[in-house]
Amino acid sequence: MTVLEVDHVTKTYAVRGAGRITALDDVSLTLESGRTTGLVGQSGSGKSTIAKILTQLETPTSGEVRLDGQPIPRRGAGLRAYRQTLRMVFQDPFASLNPYHSVRYHLERPLRLHRVVPDAELDDEVRRLLDRVHLEPGTVIDRRPHELSGGQRQRVAIARALASRPRLLVADEPVSMLDVSIRLGVLNLLADLGREEGLGVLYITHDLATARHFSDEILVLNQGRVVERGPADDVILRPQDPYTRELRAASPDPEKHFASASGTHGGAL
Ligand SMILES: Nc1ncnc2c1ncn2[C@@H]1O[C@H](COP(=O)(O)OP(=O)(O)OP(=O)(O)O)[C@@H](O)[C@H]1O
Ligand SMILES: [Mg+2]
Repeated sequence: MTVLEVDHVTKTYAVRGAGRITALDDVSLTLESGRTTGLVGQSGSGKSTIAKILTQLETPTSGEVRLDGQPIPRRGAGLRAYRQTLRMVFQDPFASLNPYHSVRYHLERPLRLHRVVPDAELDDEVRRLLDRVHLEPGTVIDRRPHELSGGQRQRVAIARALASRPRLLVADEPVSMLDVSIRLGVLNLLADLGREEGLGVLYITHDLATARHFSDEILVLNQGRVVERGPADDVILRPQDPYTRELRAASPDPEKHFASASGTHGGAL
């Protein structure tokens, strides 16, 4: 089921002395519940600009984003409801978590803000969220970010994103700052959440191999334009567009299979 539509979105920025640059040029995409859409492209191709538009940090210069067929409200309760529906997982879990606060605090905050459960159930719900991301509640709940490993931190960030019971997750390079050996575990977690909780996921990455493995559909961005889109295997294994072919040639091993879902086979990631 289509949850979110990005409809012919263009974003330009005024640049001092250089007129305007076009970060996104007529981009359309949809996010469907229970499906992962991969967004690939080189640095500067506009991937994070899409994330910023989806999280309402930026507004499109033209075009529209719709949730369940309705334009996103600019303010008030409608905008708050949208922010509860679409959550973001950032690249750097260190920067996105507050060093002075415990894991419990990070998870209770959105639960209170969105009134997800009555106060008496906050502790249970925090533990449930930690279980959901395969962290042992008793071990991590009272720790602060610097007392966790990078992978644990990113799992806390994912648990926080889940706290408001969203329908959509946008993950912008969610594992590129993590140690190679733990990347697959975090990506498998995101994929499982997508499937099991019916979340629509936008997985933004430079990495064609994981994009192929973890996405149902892939879009290739080049200088703000979608140059190719389709089922993940078609786009990565049988690219039609010259730019996608170039990306593939420059990529370590896009045919790599991730036979093990255990997260221990980091390989060339
Ligand atoms: N606030 C801004 N003002 C001016 N230009 C911007 C702004 N934000 C992004 N851009 C430009 O828009 C283009 C797309 O940037 P974007 O951050 O979306 O790329 P990206 O695909 O996420 O790159 P990376 O892979 O390096 O994260 C780039 O040319 C960038 O310099
Ligand atoms: Mg980016």
